[in-house]
Amino acid sequence: MKLLKGLSLLVGSALTLFSLALSSANNKAQGEKLYQVHCAACHGPNGEGGLGPTLAAPQLTRASDDEALFKIIKDGIAGTEMPSSRLEVEAIKELVRWVRNLGQRPVEKIGGDATRGGKLYFTKGDCASCHAINGRGSAFGPDLSDIGLRRGATHLRASLIEPEADVPKSFLMFRPGTALPENFLQVRVVTADGKRIKGVRINEDTFTIHLRELSGRVHSFFKSELKELHKDWGKSPMPSYRSVFTGEEMEDVVAFLVSLRGER
Ligand code: HEC
Ligand code: HEC
Repeated sequence: MKLLKGLSLLVGSALTLFSLALSSANNKAQGEKLYQVHCAACHGPNGEGGLGPTLAAPQLTRASDDEALFKIIKDGIAGTEMPSSRLEVEAIKELVRWVRNLGQRPVEKIGGDATRGGKLYFTKGDCASCHAINGRGSAFGPDLSDIGLRRGATHLRASLIEPEADVPKSFLMFRPGTALPENFLQVRVVTADGKRIKGVRINEDTFTIHLRELSGRVHSFFKSELKELHKDWGKSPMPSYRSVFTGEEMEDVVAFLVSLRGER
């Protein structure tokens, strides 16, 4: 009898151990599964980054500890594409564990040379004629001062090769959480006296539209006073650099962009 009891205790604890091991493996699989469904599209299947920044880094700028990471996953980052989520607390905890696990892997190595990339940015690329970095350059396109924090190398490479890939297709469908000024839409207007003006939209409401020409000049129009108003959904004023840069130069510029992490 005593023996039987001891045996069942032994079996019992072995079972508990077994199921504990199983559940921690399950949790890991769970965290990874949740990540692939909810995060991978923007942060890459291995956290290498894309539309969102890399998560495969031991230190995350906006998520220095697990609590901050939890909050970001739950609430998102206001004014950016990083969405909030309605996942259960337990699921978010699994995600936190998985993201930290991604951080144990080596950070994606970018082959290019950031210093050479910086030179190309200001010379051959002439990027400063449309973009500003820490106040230097034009405000025609998005500010790139901390682009390396906001985007991964995959997305940055794609923006240079195929700029159209990143522009709003339709305002409601695309970047719904993004404020208008972040939504660089190419617009063309014909004014009442027949003048044609092309630029990017900087603001719009029911009655008015504001746009910025490449020269930097800003125009405001009452829509009712315009002869024509075209919104070029899916078109980018940014040229493709596919045939401007060699493959090696492209990687240098990407490395430079990744290195831009805001002024400290
Ligand atoms: C629609 C795209 C998108 C999805 C889906 C998405 N993110 Fe993000 N995420 C972003 C973007 C863009 C940023 C950068 C926001 C900014 O400009 O600061 C970001 C930022 C972050 C950051 C801050 C990174 C840092 O370096 O501090 C973390 C952490 C993060 N996301 C985790 C997640 C997790 C976990 C999921 C899945 C539950 C997820 N994200 C889903 C786009 C996305
Ligand atoms: C004629 C103006 C113009 C030039 C020149 C130009 N860009 Fe752009 N760029 C834009 C505009 C407008 C956008 C925003 C709309 C879009 O994505 O096409 C943009 C978008 C981008 C983005 C995506 C930003 C994001 O948040 O996703 C990156 C990265 C970028 N440009 C980098 C560069 C680099 C690097 C160069 C030089 C090699 C360059 N651009 C040259 C106008 C320009």
